Amino acid sequence: MNTINRREFVKQGCLACLGAGVLSVTLSNCSSVYYAKGVVETNGISVLKSEFTYLKKDQTLTREYILIQNDKLEFPIYLYRFSENEYSALWMKCTHQGSELQASGDHLQCPAHGSEFNNRGVVNHGPAENNLRTFPVVVESDKIIIDLRG
Ligand code: FES
Repeated sequence: MNTINRREFVKQGCLACLGAGVLSVTLSNCSSVYYAKGVVETNGISVLKSEFTYLKKDQTLTREYILIQNDKLEFPIYLYRFSENEYSALWMKCTHQGSELQASGDHLQCPAHGSEFNNRGVVNHGPAENNLRTFPVVVESDKIIIDLRG
């Protein structure tokens, strides 16, 4: 994709719903958190399945989840792997007051006031009362596509 400025991108399509506000740069102190740069697609964003695997002492291991970043996303997307063909994709914006969530294994926590959500985006602990925004996930061969239109 050619480089385009943010305003042009928002005009182009379905990601406009995600674009209000200032882009956030997400950094984490936790070295175990793996970030993948998503590829912008017509209807959303994609990553390769191989982003979930890594080598350690000649063994191929599988990550439980990855975080997807892209300059076009205001917040990262938490992509949790239940199996090779089942994933959940969650918008990492707290439903309480909009802070960016932190991933910790199979759940997400909010550093602002302590809300917690499970790996399907359901509230485990408040003060948040609403579940996280989720996105449909389609698996095509070696690629995972997250549909951001909804
Ligand atoms: S903004 Fe997340 S708990 Fe308040």
